[in-house]
Amino acid sequence: MISQVLLALVVFAVLESVLNSPVLQVAQSQKKRFSSQQNAVIPLEYDETGKCIYVKSEEGVYMFTSPGSAQVCGFYVIADPQHTVHFTFHAFRISCEKGGLLSVVDGWELNGQFFPGTEDHPKPAEKRFAEYCGENRPWKTQVTSQNVGLLEFRIPVKGEGFTVSIEFQPNPKPCNAVLQQPSGVYTLRNYGQRVNCTMSIIFPETFQILASSVGTQSMPVTGRTMDVETGIVKKCKKLGSEDYVEVRGGDGLDPSMMTVAEDFCGMDSVPGRSSVDVACGNSAVRLVSSGRFENSVTVSFDLLMDWGSPSLVCPTLLETP
Ligand SMILES: *[C@@H]1O[C@H](CO)[C@@H](O)[C@H](O)[C@H]1NC(C)=O
Repeated sequence: MISQVLLALVVFAVLESVLNSPVLQVAQSQKKRFSSQQNAVIPLEYDETGKCIYVKSEEGVYMFTSPGSAQVCGFYVIADPQHTVHFTFHAFRISCEKGGLLSVVDGWELNGQFFPGTEDHPKPAEKRFAEYCGENRPWKTQVTSQNVGLLEFRIPVKGEGFTVSIEFQPNPKPCNAVLQQPSGVYTLRNYGQRVNCTMSIIFPETFQILASSVGTQSMPVTGRTMDVETGIVKKCKKLGSEDYVEVRGGDGLDPSMMTVAEDFCGMDSVPGRSSVDVACGNSAVRLVSSGRFENSVTVSFDLLMDWGSPSLVCPTLLETP
C-alpha cells in the first residue's frame, strides 16, 4: 500500500509538472531541436530518501550508473494509450557474478501485481520478462504490448549500469492501458476480437457511461448488423452473456484481483444518469469480449470527490497509514 501510494504520487507529480508547466509550450516548440541534439542523456539518480523508483512519460535517452547499492530499482515508463514503448539499449554492463540483473517487463509490476493482469495479457506470464546481465547489451529493441513498460534492475557493482533510449510508437489497436490523467473520456474497443481489454487508473474514480455497444452489434461477416437500442442491462455476466463491461476497484495493479463494482452490457447512446463510484486506490474498466461482437464502451471519469455513497469501497484505502 505504501509503494502503491508512492507510485500514485510520483505519477501525479510527474503529470502535474508536465501539464501545468508554463514551459510546456516552449518545450514543445523545442522538442524538434532537442531530439536532433542527440547527446541529451537524462541521468537516473537516487533521490534524497535513497530510493531509485522512476516514472517517466517522455521519450529520451536515459542513463543509470550504480552508486554501489544492491537495491532493486524500477524505471516505470508510460506513454499515452495509443502508443507502445520501445526500449533500445546502447551501453550495458551488469556483472552476473555479483548478482546484477536487469529485467525488461511487458507491463507494470508493483508489489507482485501486474498490469495488464496475468489473465488478460496477450503473452503468457513467462514471456513477459526478458532478463539480462553481462557485458553485451540486449541487441533487440524490446517492444511492449501496451502503453506501459518497466525496467527492473539490481546493479550492486559501483560504476556499472546501462543507457537505454525510450521511444513511443503508434499502436493502431490499443487494448490495455494505464491512464495518466485522473479525469477524461476513454473508449475501450475489441475490434471484433476475442480479447479482454482494461483501462486502469491509479486513483479513486467516479465513472459515467457515455455510450455502450456491448454484446449487441454482430460482426458484419455474420449477416446484417443489428442496431437495436437495448439500453444498459446490468448483471450481464450472471445472465449468461459472454460480452460485458466491468467497473472494478482494488488495492493493486492487477485488474483480475480487483473487486467488481458493477457489470453491464447492451446498447445505449444516451449518457447514463447514474455514476459508478470506486473508492479504491486503483480503478479500472474492463471490456470482456467473446469475439462474436464488435464491442465498444465510452466512459467519462474523474477523481472521486463525493465519498457519500460509493458503489465499491476498499477498506485499505480508508486506513490511515
Ligand atoms: C476474458 O475474460 C473472461 C472472464 O474473465 C474469460 O472467461 C475469457 O477466457 C477471457 N478471454 C481471453 C481471450 O482471455
